[in-house]
Amino acid sequence: SERTLVLLKPDAVRRGLIGEITRRIESKADWAVKAMELRTLDRSTLEQHYAEHVGKPFYEPLMEFMASGPSVAMVVEGERVIEGVRALAGPTDPIAAAPGSIRGDFGTVVRENLIHASDSAESAERELKIFSPTSDDAPLTRHQSSGP
Ligand code: GTP
Ligand code: MG
Repeated sequence: SERTLVLLKPDAVRRGLIGEITRRIESKADWAVKAMELRTLDRSTLEQHYAEHVGKPFYEPLMEFMASGPSVAMVVEGERVIEGVRALAGPTDPIAAAPGSIRGDFGTVVRENLIHASDSAESAERELKIFSPTSDDAPLTRHQSSGP
């Protein structure tokens, strides 16, 4: 089996969809949530996470949106889970996503598309390191204080 990084984006958290989306993931046979954390993602984490999109027209608005409130970061493990969570999520543009998919059922706006899931084994390995730099059983990240 394999592991993937899933983010429930700030729109999903604001709209009270943590349970609904997590339920769909947990419902799949033999998939399991192995770690989970609610946290507002900081700029440096987001820069690492979305490095491939630097310079694109949607990059800055995407970063601002992703930092606009708490996300849920989770590690999901199971059979073909990388491809599988992407399939549950549906295409990037929610209007193009079929009903029954997470984006198809709940989204309308490309930027506010509810969920991130690693798009390949290489991305999963890279992203899991960004969110879980220590060990499998450690929290997803060390707490990064942003207060005074
Ligand atoms: P992630 O799981 O968030 O990485 O989504 P994805 O893999 O389906 O899409 P991609 O990595 O190509 O883009 C990352 C995010 O940038 C998307 O989820 C969108 O929120 C946003 N995005 C991508 N393409 C566009 C675009 O053409 N316009 C806008 N406004 N946002 C985009
Ligand atoms: Mg992506």
